[in-house]
Formats: sequence, C-alpha cells, structure tokens
Amino acid sequence: MKFSFAKPALPKTGAVVVTVSAERTLGPAGQEIDRTTGGMLTRAMEAGRFTGKAEETLTVLAPAALDASRVLLVGLGKGADAKDLTFQGAGGAVVAALEKSGETDAAVWLEVPEGCAVPAGQAAAEFAFGGRLRAYRFDKYRTTEKKDAKPSLKKVTVMSDAADAAKKAFARLDAVAQAVCHTRDLVSEPANVLHPESLAEGCRELTSLGLQVEVLDLKKLRKLGMGALIGVAQGSAYEPRVVVMRWDGNPGAEDPSPVAFIGKGVTFDTGGISIKPAAGMEDMKWDMGGAATVIGVMHALAARKAKVNAVGVVGLVENMPSGTAQRPGDIVTSLSGQTIEVINTDAEGRLVLADCLWYTQDTFKPRLMIDLATLTGAIIIALGNEQAGLFANDDGLADALAAAGRAVGEPVWRMPMGDAYDKEINSDAADMKNVGNGRGAGSITAAQFLKRFVRDVPWAHLDIAGVAWTKKDSATVPKGGTGFGVRLLDRFIADNHEG
Ligand code: BES
Ligand code: MN
Ligand code: ZN
Repeated sequence: MKFSFAKPALPKTGAVVVTVSAERTLGPAGQEIDRTTGGMLTRAMEAGRFTGKAEETLTVLAPAALDASRVLLVGLGKGADAKDLTFQGAGGAVVAALEKSGETDAAVWLEVPEGCAVPAGQAAAEFAFGGRLRAYRFDKYRTTEKKDAKPSLKKVTVMSDAADAAKKAFARLDAVAQAVCHTRDLVSEPANVLHPESLAEGCRELTSLGLQVEVLDLKKLRKLGMGALIGVAQGSAYEPRVVVMRWDGNPGAEDPSPVAFIGKGVTFDTGGISIKPAAGMEDMKWDMGGAATVIGVMHALAARKAKVNAVGVVGLVENMPSGTAQRPGDIVTSLSGQTIEVINTDAEGRLVLADCLWYTQDTFKPRLMIDLATLTGAIIIALGNEQAGLFANDDGLADALAAAGRAVGEPVWRMPMGDAYDKEINSDAADMKNVGNGRGAGSITAAQFLKRFVRDVPWAHLDIAGVAWTKKDSATVPKGGTGFGVRLLDRFIADNHEG
C-alpha cells in the first residue's frame, strides 16, 4: 500500500475520507460535501448512530452529486484533545474499513480540528503512519487465497494544506514503520524457516542500512565461555548464534558509550526436557520476540540515521528435547563465572540473557542496558495482553521508558524487585538455580535472576510475553506479531539520548 501527500482537492474516483470530531462536528471540507450532497453526511451520521468517536468509521456509498464512489467518515473523538496517537488511530481505522472494500484508491481530507495542538503536517504524517502499520500483512505462505478476500486498497493520498511538512515528517515515521514490520515479519516466520542460523544470516542484511553486524558462532561462544546459552541450545540440530549489531550515529559524542539493547531469541521453545503441553505450543515460534524487537530498533535507528551510539545483542537458540539436550539438575557455568543449577529446562530465556547481558556490559561498557524477552507466562497472568512488565534497577530509566511507552501507545507497567525475591533463586548445589521455590511471582524471580548478571549499570528488563503477539486487531496493529517495543524504544532514544 502506497501512502502519499497532496494539497486538498476532491478526487474524481475512489473513496473520499472525511474526518469528524465528536458529536458529529464536520470541518469545512466535510461541511462542503454535506452541502453539495443535500445534507447526506448529516443524515447518514444520524441514521448510522455515528458520533465521531476516535477510530469510529461510517461508509456512505455512491452519492450522485459526487464523482467519488463513496465517502468514508472517520472519527477523531473530542477534537481539541486529538494527539499524534489519535491521527494514527484514524489512519489505521480507515485502512481497516477500506482495505478489502473493493476500493483501490482513497483520498483523505484530513482536517485538524479546532483547538487541536498537533500541527497539520504532523497530523497528516501520523495518519499515514497509522495506516501503514495497520496495512501490514504476513501472507507469503497463503497461495490459494481468493482474489476478493485479498486487500484491494493500493493507494492512500492524505490531503493537507501542509503536504510538504507532512512528507518530511513521514520520512522519519516511515522508517520506523518499516522497522516495526521487519520485527513483525521475524516474529511471524515459522520455526522451520527461522532458526538460529537463518536468523543470524538474515541480520547480515542490515549492513545495507549502515549497521555493523557481527555473528558469533558456536566455536566463538565456546571460546568465550557462554555455558548458560550453549546449554539451552545443545538439544537442537541448529547451532546457537549471538548477533551483535552496532549503530554509531554519534561518533563525536563527548561520552561515546552506547545504549545497549539485548534480546531473547529462542526461535522455538518446546520447553526442552521439561517439555510444554501440546496445546498452544505453536505460539512458541514467537519466543524470539525480544530479539526481533532489538533487530527492529536497530533497523529503525539506522534507517532514520539517529544521532546516537547504540548496540544490539541477540542470543539465538532453539530449545529442544533430544538425546543431547540439557537435563533438569544439570549445572552450567555462565560467562560471568557464576554457576547455575538448571531445575527446569523451560526457564531457558534467562539462561540465554544471562550470558548476553554479561557479554554486552563487558565488551561495550554501555551507558545503560535494556533487555527484551518473552520471558514468563506469569507476566500474562499479572498484566494480560495490555501492558509489558517493566523491571529496573534505576528509577530514572524506568520513568523514561514508561513515558516513552505512553507517548507511542505501547504501555509498560513497573513491577517490584527486592532481596526477598532474590533469595528464592539460591541453590544448594550451585550459585543459583533457574527457577524460584514456589509458583508465586514467577516474572519477578526471573527478573532477579537477570539482575545477578548486571553489575553497576542502569538496566531495565521488559517482559513482553503478553504483548509480542495479539489474537485481535487494534487500530494500528493487525492480529499476529505486534512489533511491540520498536516504537517505544525508538521514542525513548529520540527523547533521551539523541544529539
Ligand atoms: N517462553 C516462555 C514464556 C512464555 C509463555 C512466553 C507464554 C509467551 C507465552 C518461557 O521460556 C517459559 O517457558 N517460562 C516458564 C518459566 C517457568 C518454567 C519458571 C513459564 O512461564 O511457565
Ligand atoms: Mn521456556
Ligand atoms: Zn521461552
């Protein structure tokens, strides 16, 4: 789907989209169409119980007085309160309403409501951004889909007096949208196609954006001493990989130390010898969602040439049961030197992250570290599919991440940590064990485990198990892989670490 910007003019064909503020308030363009159609829009809004709530849409077909084939009304809610996210939501709602309507072209007459603080060009760009995010599809394996079940909409023109400003603002947003879609693609790929070796090879393509990419293979990981990560991978036919991606967007910085992102990349999590039940196991193809987000963030930073030094490190393994698999009770030595008793082979993500966190702080001396992982089912019990769990050893970092999440519509909720939870993972046989004593506070004991591999550096951990995948469509996120975290971290960088 192509998005472009133009000065306002009524289109000769296709759909014309008109924005409406709450309680059926049309802007000048909407009023003009209403007049030329003898009050058609006003009557349709009343008959259709359409009031202009945010993301609400109403289709009016083929009015004789217009060249266009239909008018689509889209709500913005209370006009004066409209924010970036409001326009994104409207863009997404319009794409959802027209995508499979048979229409190929849509011209959006975007009217920023009175009292709204968003500049016109920005509003138009945000609208297109939301549309692009909603238009995402993962359909490469669908070979027999009927033609009229496929999307028809090809071209969306957002009309605004500030078309030039919109174009400029969209260039940056479009880079982020493409990065989000990259993450969604990775999360959606099945595990027979996407495994540690193929995912690592795929990362090399990021060099075309100006990123430096280094792939550490099994030999190298052994030499380094990543015993915790290797233990998880040893049951798989695929070798593990660690991929390091660097973006040096601010080489002259007074403090050149990078921001570091670390991702859990379990390309499939069977649970290993502590095997998972069959029902829903297919979901574990997206257990590399943390790594996919890190890859997406690095993609976004490079694509929009962010003025920041950043490094992304992803630990890629497949957790399989086999004759060579790690057993419950095995003791592994992590890169940090600390030993871990593996009580449950299904608590594998923390083992992978432990070595990646240690490697990252030792090698890159980062100013801060943020890890992302589909780490625990327990975080879904706590927060459902609405917010990610946030854990941190630094209040400033936690607050900045929460603020970025709110700004982009990817909310995170801070969870507690503390010594009492830490005690839960003490082991009689080794320095620690990989699960707590009981079933309580599973997400927190997991975070405490990670914390044992973080020294004196601000660190945050995002448990995205509940938000990396969605079973229902929302305004800018169609069902499937969400790309959660890419927008959040891009915003976190833009607001706190650029320039
Ligand atoms: N990848 C899972 C967590 C998960 C569950 C992600 C559901 C997405 C949806 C993780 O590796 C895992 O298996 N965690 C265990 C930990 C337990 C053994 C302490 C869990 O949550 O049950
Ligand atoms: Mn697991
Ligand atoms: Zn897992």
